[in-house]
Amino acid sequence: MRIIKSGNFYSVDAFLSDFSGGEHDVQKINPAAIFGSAEYGDLILYEATPGDDDGNMESVIREKERVGARLVFMVPAESNEEYITSLERLGADEVIKMPCEYETFSAALKKFTPVAGHTGAREEFGIVGNSPQLDFIRNFIKKVAKSNIPVLIEGESGTGKELAAYGVHKASLRSDQPFIPVNCGAIPKELLENEFFGHEKGSFTGAINDKKGLFEIADKGTLFIDEIGEMDPSAQVKLLRALETGKFMRIGGAREIKVDVRIVAATNRDVKEEMKAGRFRKDLFYRLSSILIKLPALRDRREDIPVLAEYFLSHSRVNPEEAFHKKISKEAMEVLSSYNWPGNVRELLNVIERSVVLSEKRIVITKGDFPTHLTDAGETQYDAEEKYPEITGQETKHGPFMAMMEKRFIASALKYNGMDKTKTAAAIGISIANLYRKIRKYNLE
Ligand SMILES: Nc1ncnc2c1ncn2[C@@H]1O[C@H](COP(=O)(O)OP(=O)(O)OP(=O)(O)O)[C@@H](O)[C@H]1O
Ligand SMILES: [Mg+2]
Repeated sequence: MRIIKSGNFYSVDAFLSDFSGGEHDVQKINPAAIFGSAEYGDLILYEATPGDDDGNMESVIREKERVGARLVFMVPAESNEEYITSLERLGADEVIKMPCEYETFSAALKKFTPVAGHTGAREEFGIVGNSPQLDFIRNFIKKVAKSNIPVLIEGESGTGKELAAYGVHKASLRSDQPFIPVNCGAIPKELLENEFFGHEKGSFTGAINDKKGLFEIADKGTLFIDEIGEMDPSAQVKLLRALETGKFMRIGGAREIKVDVRIVAATNRDVKEEMKAGRFRKDLFYRLSSILIKLPALRDRREDIPVLAEYFLSHSRVNPEEAFHKKISKEAMEVLSSYNWPGNVRELLNVIERSVVLSEKRIVITKGDFPTHLTDAGETQYDAEEKYPEITGQETKHGPFMAMMEKRFIASALKYNGMDKTKTAAAIGISIANLYRKIRKYNLE
């Protein structure tokens, strides 16, 4: 945890160095510089004296509220109750009279390093989680960010592709230049080229002015091309050329424009499959995928589930003050840990935020605060959709019976593997092509 200390009580410095033991990062800051200095989860220690400059007090309160930090006021020993109460009303989490004993100080601070997982989550670039997969990814991002080589990020919906893309930008030498995201899935195909490359006045009806494309807007920065699998082949050609030469022409333009843009692309499709099906150009794929970041599904790194759940709780946007003090019951945490999370981290985030609201004033979040489909585990979507008849022993036809069993088997395997076809095929030992055939045959998509 980061502790920001502002003020003179020097005796505290000794406590802090002792208290930190390597776990906390202590920063000293001038009271006037407090605004804009804190981040999520920080603890602010602030010296307050009766008759203080109101401006500074306002700044520190705003800072606490801005990022949901904890705030401890250190006040002189002679401060009266009235003053202490006024600070608590302002929004202090704790007020300590100075000088104080080490025990008093550490007891106060320990309140803000609660045991139940509020700390200990590893985080960088907003990517939270303690699984070895995420450790690897955070390191990998740092390693590749400094070059200008394109990056392709693959992962199911909600696994954090956009976070990772932004991480690449933030860790790069371009971090103070623009990061421009564009979602190919959200723009009609026929407008994509115009969006990327812009046009020159008069190049088509309606082109009444010159228009810069995103490539020009992102010059010197990073262009994040989301859902690149949605881009049609003609736009892919132009993109590839721009990638290779750093140059392109606006629609209807006669001169080449040179730009310096780092491309980060993302997709939740299996691009290799798309390539085989001829929907994605091989040359573009190879160009983009020299650095490939594969974000694992949440169910493949289950140790991140409790870490993320606690993290989302302590950083809740719905009701930060209340949520911070809430805890997830053991039983509820087990429900979260065993659910399959087809919507990955986004789904978990939504479930936690919803539970903050539904648990109202209760401190403990229980499984009743979760949507029911999390709790009726075992009852898969397919089971629910079609109950298979009991096997009665009176079945007469072998063929239809076997087909029914096979359908059920494949449906469960798909569900278990989060509808990931590559994984399902590997898990049940059939080829991916064969799996596709069966999915079509049994209408399991
Ligand atoms: N490891 C993580 N730590 C913290 N928050 C995360 C993590 N992974 C994802 N999130 C959060 O989950 C939500 C979804 O993440 P993001 O938008 O990056 O996913 P995505 O892979 O781009 O999804 P989609 O394919 O649907 O666009 C965001 O609110 C993001 O902040
Ligand atoms: Mg996304």
